Amino acid sequence: MTLALGVRAQAAGTRLACFDQLGSTNAEAAARARAGEVGPIWFVTTEQTAGRGRRQRPWIAPRGNLAASLLEVIDVSPGMAATLGFAAGLALESALQAVTAHYIASYAVPLAIDYRLKWPNDVLANGNKLGGILLEAENMADGRLAVVVGIGTNIVAHPTGTPYPATSLHALGLQVSAEQVFAALSDSWTELRGLWDNGRGFAEIRRLWLQRAKGLGEPVSIRTGTTVIEGLFDCIDEAGCLIVRTPEGRRIPIAAGDVHFGSTASAGAS
Ligand code: BTN
Repeated sequence: MTLALGVRAQAAGTRLACFDQLGSTNAEAAARARAGEVGPIWFVTTEQTAGRGRRQRPWIAPRGNLAASLLEVIDVSPGMAATLGFAAGLALESALQAVTAHYIASYAVPLAIDYRLKWPNDVLANGNKLGGILLEAENMADGRLAVVVGIGTNIVAHPTGTPYPATSLHALGLQVSAEQVFAALSDSWTELRGLWDNGRGFAEIRRLWLQRAKGLGEPVSIRTGTTVIEGLFDCIDEAGCLIVRTPEGRRIPIAAGDVHFGSTASAGAS
């Protein structure tokens, strides 16, 4: 199978650049933006050797996993661009739901996979990390922002020994390919990107995201640098910050951090 856009992505005029192997699809997208590319265009590979994760962590995609980055140069503030990550999480979750439903219908297998979104941008499957999103942005000379939405999905393999446990679609019993997931993702992205509408639709994106959120109203520990904040996961605000309600009743907005569910002061990284 070859990597190809879904029909909705094609109809929207999105372009595609495929690579047999690449260091980082995010790095490639940023380099193309500096060279004048304005997108929207996907950079995709099924083997990523020097991928970047959140908080300077590596994200290596062994052959068969999916690494995909969407580049678009747009006229939005960096703060508004940051909310695009929630649309990306919804797009990946929606693509996974579609691929899963199709697989179950085709092979009549009794699979039940619970997909959830974990703040800020992870997708969980049965409680384990299946996909991650890295949003990067760079100012262009014309004042616009080159936004790169990098999405990594564990299709055939997942790392072990990570502080937040990981999984892959194959480990879950879903024998699908990176190509199938990408076609569905390019279509769901087209839909969710349209709904986001340069930030004007973030209220609706936030509503949909909260419907699929893991741990809403439950105890969470968030590590931000050297600090661990504990409380109840109250909601996300209009800027995309996670709001924690502390035992003293304070509502603390968190802009960046690693979330663990349950109240454990020793929360590690995700
Ligand atoms: C995370 O740490 O959870 C985010 C991981 C993001 C990985 C993806 S894979 C495609 C894109 N290219 C990269 O170098 N990183 C992102």
